[in-house]
Amino acid sequence: MDSKTMDYFKHETAIVDEGAQIGEGSKIWHFSHVMGTAKIGKGCNLGQNVYIDAQVIIGDGVKIQNNVSVYQGVEVGDDCFLGPSCVFTNVTNPRSEVVRRDEYKKTKLGKGVTVGANATVVCGVALGDYAFVGAGAVVTKSFPAYALVVGCPAVQKGWMSAFGEKLDFDEQGIAKCVNSGSVYRLENGKVEKL
Ligand SMILES: CC(C)(COP(=O)(O)OP(=O)(O)OC[C@H]1O[C@@H](n2cnc3c(N)ncnc32)[C@H](O)[C@@H]1OP(=O)(O)O)[C@@H](O)C(=O)NCCC(=O)NCCS
Repeated sequence: MDSKTMDYFKHETAIVDEGAQIGEGSKIWHFSHVMGTAKIGKGCNLGQNVYIDAQVIIGDGVKIQNNVSVYQGVEVGDDCFLGPSCVFTNVTNPRSEVVRRDEYKKTKLGKGVTVGANATVVCGVALGDYAFVGAGAVVTKSFPAYALVVGCPAVQKGWMSAFGEKLDFDEQGIAKCVNSGSVYRLENGKVEKL
């Protein structure tokens, strides 16, 4: 697409390969690179030195901070926040001498997931909607929607609202987000917004 007819913004130092699909209103900043088979939704922001690999799908409204590479096999839901220098992987046992391109494992981030600065998400896991990964965590398994996880390996410390506030559930399994006022229910290890 001719740069004049593009309905997204691309800084002059960014490289968007022919064929990449980029939604309206998205912004791609300095030295970032999007591969030709990648698909990025509407209203996204890709900071400096962001790499979007082949066949990666990024939803709408996603914010990707500086120095993040989203590798093949990773799917990022709408409104996710990927903190600076967070890392994704797509091979469990890489060896330079062994070709493992057919063995990429999938990683799926639901809607509204936050991955904190410098955290690593090891491949083959799924993070439920609005799961929150603390800075520097190493996620080695899947976690449910609204889970707050920290540490290496990441363990669940609690629950986080869609607004980004910790949820304190009462004996009836009900919690109110102190900031947004939204109410959540915890039942059978799962949280839902009422
Ligand atoms: C996980 C997080 C949300 C917790 O925030 P918080 O509730 O205000 O945390 P607190 O300061 O009250 O700490 C609570 C406890 O968790 C620990 N903790 C906080 N963040 C942690 C992290 N990332 N990893 C491990 N432990 C963490 C604290 O040491 C503290 O432990 P203690 O109770 O034994 O003293 C926050 O620290 C975090 O990592 N946010 C991500 C920030 C980020 O990456 N932003 C990117 C864009 S700038």
